[in-house]
Amino acid sequence: MEKSAKDPEAFNQKIGELRDQMKLGGGQKRIDAQHEKGKMTARERVVELLDEGTFQEIDGFMKNRHSDFGMDKEKVLGDGMVAGFGKIDGRRVCIYAQDFTVMGGSFGEIAGQKVAHVMDLAIEAGVPVIGLNDGGGARIQESVFSLAAFGELFYRNTQASGVIPQISVILGPCAGGAVYSPALTDFIVMAKGISNMFITGPEVIKTVTGEEVDAETLGGAEVHSAVSGVAHFSVNSEAEAFTTVKKLLSYLPSNNTEAAPITEMTDDPWRMDSELDTLVPTDPSASYNMINVINHVFDYDSFFEIQAAFAQNAIIGFARLAGLPLGVVAQQPAYMAGAIDINAADKMARFIRFCDAFNFPIVTFSDSPGFLPGVSQEHGGIIRHGAKIVYAYSEASVPKLTVITRKGYGGAYIVMASKHIHSDMVFAWPSAEIAVMGAEGAVSILYRKELQGKENAAEERTRLVDEFREKFANPYFAAANGFVDDVILPHETRVRLITGLELLHDKKVHAPAKKHGCMPL
Ligand code: HXC
Repeated sequence: MEKSAKDPEAFNQKIGELRDQMKLGGGQKRIDAQHEKGKMTARERVVELLDEGTFQEIDGFMKNRHSDFGMDKEKVLGDGMVAGFGKIDGRRVCIYAQDFTVMGGSFGEIAGQKVAHVMDLAIEAGVPVIGLNDGGGARIQESVFSLAAFGELFYRNTQASGVIPQISVILGPCAGGAVYSPALTDFIVMAKGISNMFITGPEVIKTVTGEEVDAETLGGAEVHSAVSGVAHFSVNSEAEAFTTVKKLLSYLPSNNTEAAPITEMTDDPWRMDSELDTLVPTDPSASYNMINVINHVFDYDSFFEIQAAFAQNAIIGFARLAGLPLGVVAQQPAYMAGAIDINAADKMARFIRFCDAFNFPIVTFSDSPGFLPGVSQEHGGIIRHGAKIVYAYSEASVPKLTVITRKGYGGAYIVMASKHIHSDMVFAWPSAEIAVMGAEGAVSILYRKELQGKENAAEERTRLVDEFREKFANPYFAAANGFVDDVILPHETRVRLITGLELLHDKKVHAPAKKHGCMPL
C-alpha cells in the first residue's frame, strides 16, 4: 500500500531529502570548484566559526521568485544565503553567509529578506551579528529587487550601529555597492589572497581612468588594512579569520546595555613594573615604542590591537585591567614621532565612539608633538578630521583616564583626552612636557628679534631653551594649576588606572538633551 503524505515516515523522508538538497547549495560541482580555490563553502564556514552543533538555520526553504534571464531554472533552496543563529564560546550570535556556489553568492531579493530577518532577530535579541561575505554583489537578473535588498541591509546596519556589535568577514569578492554593508559595521576582517573589496573593479577602472591594476593590489586585505584603513584585521587564512572573530568577541558585550565579559584575574592588580621607569628615553627627541608601555601596564597578554598596520602613529585596541575590558587609545612616538595626521585622527575617533557606544572605559596614553604640518594634510582636511578626535572624546560619557608619558604639545595635548575636554583623571609621568610647543620652537618665536645678530646668540639661545624647559617642559606647571591630577611614577600607572576605574565604575553623565550631534566628518 502506498504511504500517505501525512505518514510520519514520509515526513522524515521528504524533509531529509530537502535538507540534503539545501546543504548542496549550488551543487557538488560548484562546491568542488569552491574547494579548488582553497575556500570553504558558506555552510562549512558557519560550522567552523560556531560552537559545535549550535547552528540553527532559518529560512533555508526560501527560493527566488523571479523568472527573467533564466531565473526560472535557478530555484535553489536557500537562494545563495545561509542564515541563522548559534553560539560562539557559549554566547549567542546571529550569522549569515553568502553562498558562492549559488549564482556566485549574488545578493537578490531572497538573500535580502533572509539577512534582514537575521538582523532583526539580532537587534531584538541583543546579540552580535556576523556576516560572512563572498559574492558577486547585486544579483543582476533581479534588477531593482537586488538594489532594494541591499538598501534594506544598509538601513538595518545603521539601525543596529551602537546597539549590537556587527562584524563583517570578507572571504571572497565584495564589490560595488555591496561594500557599504561591511563599511557600516564595526569591524572588518579580510583574508589575504582570497578577499577583495572595491567600489569599481579593475576592468571598470581601466575603461574609465586607463589605470591598470589587479584585484589584490586594488582592494586586497593588505591594502585595506594598511593603506585605506577600511579593514581592521588582515589574516592569512579563513581559519585565522574565525579565530580573530572569536578573540574580538571575547572582549565585546552582546549589546549596548550589557557589560563586556570580565575574565578571571590573571595578573596582579598591585603589580608595579619597574621596567616602565626606563622606557621613556631621557633625550626628548629619542623615540620609544608605546606598545611596550601598553604591554607593561595592562593585564599580561591582554592587549588586542586593532588596525595595527594602518596609521601606525596612532594605536587602538582592547585590553584588560584586573580582568575588566577597556579601550586603549595611544600615540606611537616610534612612528612619525606620534604626530596626528588625517588617518590617525579617523582611526582614533571611530574607535573612541565605538568604546563609548558599548560602554568601554577609555585609557589614553598621549605623547605627541602635535598635528602633522604640511600642505597635503591641510588640503586633505586635517582641520575637520582632527576635530573628530576632540568631538569623540568630549561626547564620550564612559570613564576616561589619561596618561601623558612625554610630549603634550599644543592641540595634541588638548584633544588627547585632556582635563579640558573632561577626561576624568589625567596622570602625567615625570617625563611629561606640557606646553604650547617644544622649547626650541618656542624660543625661536619668542626671542627671534633679541637673538638676531647677537654676538653670543647660540649661547643665549641654549640658556633661553633651558629656561623655557625648566618652566614649562615638565608636568609640574600643569599639575600646580590643576590641569593634571597627579604626577606619578611610571611603575605606579597600573595601580592608579585600576583604582581610578574602580571609582568610576558607575559613572553617570547628564548631557544636554538632543537628537544627535553633528560630528565633523
Ligand atoms: C548574478 C552573478 C553575479 C551577479 C557572479 N555571478 N556575479 N550572477 N549577479 N552579480 C554568477 C556568474 O554568472 C557565475 O554563474 C557564477 O556567479 C560564478 O561567477 P564567475 O564569474 O564564474 O566566478 P569568478 O570567476 O570567481 O568571478 C567572481 C566575480 C565575478 C569576481 C564575483 O563573477 C564578477 O565580477 N561578478 C560581477 C560583479 C559585479 O559587478 N557585481 C555587481 C556589483 S554592483 P555560472 O552560472 O556561470 O556559474 C552592485 C550594486 C549594489 O553590487 C548596489 C547597492 C547599493
